[in-house]
Amino acid sequence: MKALVCRQFGDLDNLRIEDFPAPVITPTQVRVSMRAAGVGFMDTLMANGLYQLKPDLPYVPGAVGAGVVTEIGSQVTGIQVNDRVSFLNYFGAFAEEVATEAHTVVKIADSMDFAQGATFRLSYTPAYLALKTRANLQPGEVLLVTGASGGVGHAAVQLGKLMGATVIGSVGRDEKIDIVKGFGADHVINHSTESLKDRVKELTDGRGADVILDLIGGDVFDQTLRCVNFLGRIIVMGFTSGRIPQIPANLVLLKNCSILGVFLGGWMTRDPAASMKLNQELAELAQKGGLHTHISHRFSLDDAVKAMHTLRSRDTVGKVVLDIAPKATQEIQ
Ligand SMILES: NC(=O)c1ccc[n+]([C@@H]2O[C@H](COP(=O)([O-])OP(=O)(O)OC[C@H]3O[C@@H](n4cnc5c(N)ncnc54)[C@H](OP(=O)(O)O)[C@@H]3O)[C@@H](O)[C@H]2O)c1
Repeated sequence: MKALVCRQFGDLDNLRIEDFPAPVITPTQVRVSMRAAGVGFMDTLMANGLYQLKPDLPYVPGAVGAGVVTEIGSQVTGIQVNDRVSFLNYFGAFAEEVATEAHTVVKIADSMDFAQGATFRLSYTPAYLALKTRANLQPGEVLLVTGASGGVGHAAVQLGKLMGATVIGSVGRDEKIDIVKGFGADHVINHSTESLKDRVKELTDGRGADVILDLIGGDVFDQTLRCVNFLGRIIVMGFTSGRIPQIPANLVLLKNCSILGVFLGGWMTRDPAASMKLNQELAELAQKGGLHTHISHRFSLDDAVKAMHTLRSRDTVGKVVLDIAPKATQEIQ
């Protein structure tokens, strides 16, 4: 099968499209003929060798995808050949086929195309886990999302509004301000040119945000500790700035605030049943609330490296997608 292959961690240009052995499923896995994959920040970090999990080499990058089930393991129930599904794994999606554990798979609604199905899993799912399960965001609270133009960020803005919060988004470039307002944010701050702390305080009559979802880390995270409300919750979710911040515990004490970690992959693996339940709830919410991933760039599988570079250029908004043509020899009935 055709796949993007990483044989050496480091520069993204080390990755090559190759003819790679097709995966063989175990009794608990399903085989998916790929149609679309979402490109995320973590895919690039993993290939750089900078992610917390380092797969054995060689490996096929790509954490999320969607396609059609072509084979099921002997112990798999609830999924059938020809089902349209999405999956969330750590790697394997940038290929014509993938073998993935059945508990990573969710059926996608007939109304949802493969690109939406694939991107949903690494944008709305982590955002919902963070806002609902971890931070218990309540109607009427103020939510600040840093990195609000990205895959997880734009999903968090939409979910925050659906959950009844006042949403403040923060971005690093002026041209993204109106786009994030279009996702429903009540206010948008450019944290590269304005003081995040001062602007959030201004917008909340000095109180600060009740819940802060931080995807940037570094200097931006440092400011969140200074603009979180008394009894607020700060969610640590990503470090796109490249600096993992240190937390001054005195500020946590003074604000009576909580710092909450979210690692979707670890949570899913430990509690697949809770993960299924969350995905089900999210699917219902998506249908009611009309959630829709914004896809700013689409590439073919052959251009997967270009897609990853484009994501890292920060020129993208929402998600980047690879459209994958099924293997010519494969017949899906
Ligand atoms: N913990 C979890 O379970 C989990 C799950 C999914 C993702 N994540 C993490 O969440 C983060 C966001 O993921 P994503 O897929 O949404 O990424 P993304 O689509 O690339 O968006 C990230 C945003 O970060 C900003 N950014 C990028 N590079 C930056 C830099 N060098 N300095 C400052 N800001 C920068 C960009 O916003 P501007 O252009 O507006 O500055 C970009 O829109 C990543 O760190 C990812 O690994 C964590």
